[in-house]
Amino acid sequence: MKKLLITGGAGFIGANFVHYTLKHNPEYEVTVIDKLTYAGNPDNLASVLDKITFVTGDICDRNLIDELVAKNDIVVHFAAESHNDNSLRDPWPFVETNIIGTYTILEAIRKHKKRLHHISTDEVFGDLELDDPDRFTETTPYEPSSPYSSTKAGSDHLVRAWIRSFGIEATISNCSNNYGPYQHIEKFIPRQITNILSDVKPKLYGTGEQVRDWIHVDDHNSAVHMIIEAGVLGETYIIGADNDHVNNKMVIELICELMGKGKDWYEHVNDRPGHDMRYAMDSSKLRRDLGWTPVHTDNETGMRDGLSQTIDWYRDNQAWWQAQKQAVEAKYAESGQ
Ligand code: NAD
Ligand code: DAU
Repeated sequence: MKKLLITGGAGFIGANFVHYTLKHNPEYEVTVIDKLTYAGNPDNLASVLDKITFVTGDICDRNLIDELVAKNDIVVHFAAESHNDNSLRDPWPFVETNIIGTYTILEAIRKHKKRLHHISTDEVFGDLELDDPDRFTETTPYEPSSPYSSTKAGSDHLVRAWIRSFGIEATISNCSNNYGPYQHIEKFIPRQITNILSDVKPKLYGTGEQVRDWIHVDDHNSAVHMIIEAGVLGETYIIGADNDHVNNKMVIELICELMGKGKDWYEHVNDRPGHDMRYAMDSSKLRRDLGWTPVHTDNETGMRDGLSQTIDWYRDNQAWWQAQKQAVEAKYAESGQ
């Protein structure tokens, strides 16, 4: 049995990855390390706590990381400060966790000669113009816009430097915007779903023309498993589900429709400073070389069914998000969002 250390496993994608692994890849013995910041919720793993080892801790804690990496075979590194709007209010935790935290993991991987898979984002490439038909590939130059994306870019560069200079066994994946259960309600889709469930109008930044290449979190995680199992060491893989024709306005309209509201039952609020316009991912390398294909690709927006299931999840799990709703909205109100 291989031992898998999952950093950030109490957050959105990490928790879904833990559940996905236990269901589809029972050959792994799972340990999670998570600092339980505002974004980490131990309830996300409550139903599987008897099947995993859970460690509360910081990825910047050298001794703890050294000990955990030594005990495991593979590290899948999700832990990060992940929200762009927060990085515009206070960049420091992003520098600390995303850069120093990744450095700390890399040094332990180097010392103990273990395998790393580093989780990254399409935002490292910056953005495309709305009318640009191009998509990001594994060779697109880095040009991040926000404190969040620049710290993720920094962490990717560290991983590549450790691969080239020290020969560590690592792969990287850059994925587009995820949606699904357990996503923090500060993020676009759960914020709007929980707004409607609270009888508050959804909030669209600026004109809402921005395009995000949405992918269901399980499709992201199936790709990560394929890369761990069959990815070529030292390589980077783009993960995306070809949804680069869907803008924020269309997503909000679809959420309104699926939740029984008029299509225009939303309001425009202040735009995000430096707002990236368009992300689009070319995942042909992953599809061609590893045979990956996303499952949640139904219909015209590619997300109707996945979004319906996600709406049901927030409706059925109101206790999970309700206690945080007021504080999240108070923070947004300060910036007119
Ligand atoms: P999230 O904010 O929901 O979860 C992050 C988790 O990391 C939380 O559980 C938090 O407690 C933990 N954490 C934060 N700082 C820590 C530290 N110093 N030590 C240990 N744990 C710490 O984030 P997410 O949306 O699940 O994103 C996970 C990863 O995927 C991130 O690396 C992010 O950059 C990347 N990513 C996210 C998306 C997306 O759409 N959400 C897309 C592509 C890539
Ligand atoms: O692209 C991958 C990235 O996707 C990940 O690396 C990040 O961790 C993740 O948070 C996400 O970043 P975004 O900034 O794209 O996601 P967010 O959910 O914050 O916003 C999605 C889009 O919706 C973006 O264009 C801003 C807009 N938006 C957001 C909020 C919260 C709104 O219009 N209204 C809102 O209330």
